[in-house]
Amino acid sequence: MVDAQARIEELRELIRQHNHRYYVDASPTISDREYDLLLRELEDLEKKHPQLVTSDSPTQRIGGEPLNGFETVAHNIPMLSLSNTYSKDEFREFDGRVRKLLGDTPFSYFLEPKIDGVAISIRYERGVFVRAVTRGDGIKGDDVTLNIKTIKSVPLRLQSSKTAPAVLEVRGEVFMRKDGFARLNETRQEQGLEPFANPRNAAAGSLKQLDPRITAERPLDIVLYAVGSVQGVEFSTHEDCILSLRHFGLPTSPRTWKCADIDAAIAAIDELETIKHDFAFEIDGAVMKVNERTLYDDLGNTAKSPRWAVAYKYEPEQAETILRDITVQVGRTGVLTPVAELEPVVVSGSTISRATLHNEEEIARKDIRIGDRVVVEKAGEVIPAVVRVNLDARTGDEKPFQMPSECPVCESKVVKREGEVAWRCENLQCPALLKQWIRHFAARGAMDIDGLGDVLVEQLVDNGLVSNPVDLYSLTVEQVAALERMGTKSAENLIKGIEASKRRDLWRLIFALGIRHVGSRSAQTLEGVFGSLDALIAAEMDQLEAVHDVGAVVAQSIHSHFREPHNLEIIRALKDHGLNTERLGSGPVEGGRLEGRTFVLTGTLSSFTRDQATERIRSLGGSVTSSVSKKTSCVVAGESPGSKLAKAQKLGVEVLDEAAFIRLLEAE
Ligand code: IVH
Repeated sequence: MVDAQARIEELRELIRQHNHRYYVDASPTISDREYDLLLRELEDLEKKHPQLVTSDSPTQRIGGEPLNGFETVAHNIPMLSLSNTYSKDEFREFDGRVRKLLGDTPFSYFLEPKIDGVAISIRYERGVFVRAVTRGDGIKGDDVTLNIKTIKSVPLRLQSSKTAPAVLEVRGEVFMRKDGFARLNETRQEQGLEPFANPRNAAAGSLKQLDPRITAERPLDIVLYAVGSVQGVEFSTHEDCILSLRHFGLPTSPRTWKCADIDAAIAAIDELETIKHDFAFEIDGAVMKVNERTLYDDLGNTAKSPRWAVAYKYEPEQAETILRDITVQVGRTGVLTPVAELEPVVVSGSTISRATLHNEEEIARKDIRIGDRVVVEKAGEVIPAVVRVNLDARTGDEKPFQMPSECPVCESKVVKREGEVAWRCENLQCPALLKQWIRHFAARGAMDIDGLGDVLVEQLVDNGLVSNPVDLYSLTVEQVAALERMGTKSAENLIKGIEASKRRDLWRLIFALGIRHVGSRSAQTLEGVFGSLDALIAAEMDQLEAVHDVGAVVAQSIHSHFREPHNLEIIRALKDHGLNTERLGSGPVEGGRLEGRTFVLTGTLSSFTRDQATERIRSLGGSVTSSVSKKTSCVVAGESPGSKLAKAQKLGVEVLDEAAFIRLLEAE
């Protein structure tokens, strides 16, 4: 036991150090595998000695059940915001005010990047992470402790914890790195989910999740740049404070500038502007703080912001260029998007030659015409947009744009649905939809067809070998091997991959069909409730609407999809090829959210039959057993529960009522 405790502590310390090297310093010294082995050893030991588990153990990053809501917590010291300046003159005026307030007292400045994210406060007590709260209205915020714990660069225990202060509340910004944001959006689009508009929204949305397991999957990071309440430590300057945070193992800004005076600060602002694109995260300005913390009381605060700090916002970088043409793209769901084809121009460090124009209303509102000189901007640095037209440069030769009445790809009539601004092509045979549909059908999260990448989809469609997903199942090795850059070996692998996809779980097929509004999670729910594709096809509106987390819009979309003869034909053909259209076995779905958890049902549930509830749990990876034991993760108790409830209570097993059970099933 003593040995176990010692080893546990040793492992935790090692893992903490490696976490810091990996997530804060970005210079790991061991391989991922070696790291996993350490973590696994710790997990095993903690499983054997559950009494030795502590909240700051590296194993405790993702914990707890989804919350029903966030608790509101008052900040000990209000979280102020900053006054913004938009020009060097305004910025110098701030310096003038500071000098006037301080008289002859000498002081200096400290300058750091302004990160565009979500402000957060994290409290450490004696070096141990205890709580994280959002800025909220500055006076009180949401307790997002469980979500912040999932951010790997946030230490759950401070380094040099022996000398850690009694209380250290650090403040900073949670954000999403540019690369992580791009990847997240790609995945979301593949899953048919709405992409986030910018990294800031993505970070905010991720912190709002009530289920920390979802937050854990989001590539969040943090930089700390201030302190709130502290006991047992003092910092005479802001620089001193930042160095201490670093010393405690907390992530801080990779670049900061100590500036003797306002001229030095302006030089630093200019330098930061030239290098800001090289940062892994978005920077929308610079923050200048008086370095001497001893002067903060004298300087004081206005109602909203301190008089010792100010932000300088960079102008979003814009450039003028010629709008050569407007083309129209057709997305997987058939939406027509007008795209600006631009004379290439450098904005925010990258060359832009295309920018989305969103929809025809947007074009009309901005009066954008082909041939115009337009101002483009990288909104949030990621998505290029046309901001406005330079009307002074109009020659009269510019041509107004007309949205085509036919799909630019298949020439079928486009339609505008009630309440939507977008025009759509609704022809499922449209090659534009087709390539995307095949890609979607074969994707990892859908039928998971090994070897069927984007390039191959292009080739198969362009060569007329595939004009719907059914055709995949009649492809031969010879046909595939005859394609450019394909060998017999890879052709064989593809055919094997296609063959293997016939035995996939039903939900994958439901998702792969590309029914509007049906993502992989709703597909899993539908598999759980209906059990077979035939039952789903036959389902009437009221049955579909009765399924939890399937709203009226989704239900309507499913219902009409299966009333379309063409869609039914595809399904019949897929069945003829031997694709699985039933729920496989009764085992839990691998990799589901509830994997490894065992449920026992007791009493009557009002929204499900026993079988449906069982299916729902299994479709999310959980298993259902009939008797309660210490190993049971959770007992779901409906009306008039039996003795199982009493047993659960006696054994201290978690009990969920129907409402809590539904929340668990539906947690996003
Ligand atoms: S200091 C009392 N430093 O910008 C001053 N804020 O517009 C506390 N921000 O609410 C803030 N980078 O969310 C500070 N290096 C930085 C910052 C920064 C981003 C955010 C922060 C603040 C907002 C004000």
